[in-house]
Amino acid sequence: MKEQTLSILKPDAVERNLIGKIIGRFEEENLKIVAMEQRWLSRREAEGFYAEHKARPFFGELCDFMSRSPVVIMVLEGDDAVAKNRKIMGATNPASADPGTIRKLFSKSVGENTVHGSDSPQSAAREISYFFQGTNIFCSAK
Ligand code: CMP
Repeated sequence: MKEQTLSILKPDAVERNLIGKIIGRFEEENLKIVAMEQRWLSRREAEGFYAEHKARPFFGELCDFMSRSPVVIMVLEGDDAVAKNRKIMGATNPASADPGTIRKLFSKSVGENTVHGSDSPQSAAREISYFFQGTNIFCSAK
């Protein structure tokens, strides 16, 4: 089923010039980029985005990291986009990620794990609306 999911290329990806390589992987797997913006999150925006993790011990570190330098935020669309994106990304902790996944290839640690992807269609809807107005999301032609 055609779905949308939110993807963020985190500061460690943008700092190391990995935008093209990572977007290339999404496109190879038939995920369509239907919205994309590069922006520098404020700490407050990072805190709001990750509010569900507020009680976790790593919350402060996570928000510092996500507001350290610019990120690229995208809406990806395609068949089973949520699950497909998570498969392409690999496990949250790069040490446990499958070979060939983005996190196995590029991530230094669980904290600096290169990409974010929504974990369910419900999270995707909330996360997409956190960053994008509906009018700035384009429908893919096919
Ligand atoms: P993400 O998929 O963006 O969602 C929550 C983030 O919290 C996760 O990726 C990790 O970057 C981060 N995270 C999860 N566990 C830890 C941890 N033990 N230490 C630091 N950051 C973590």
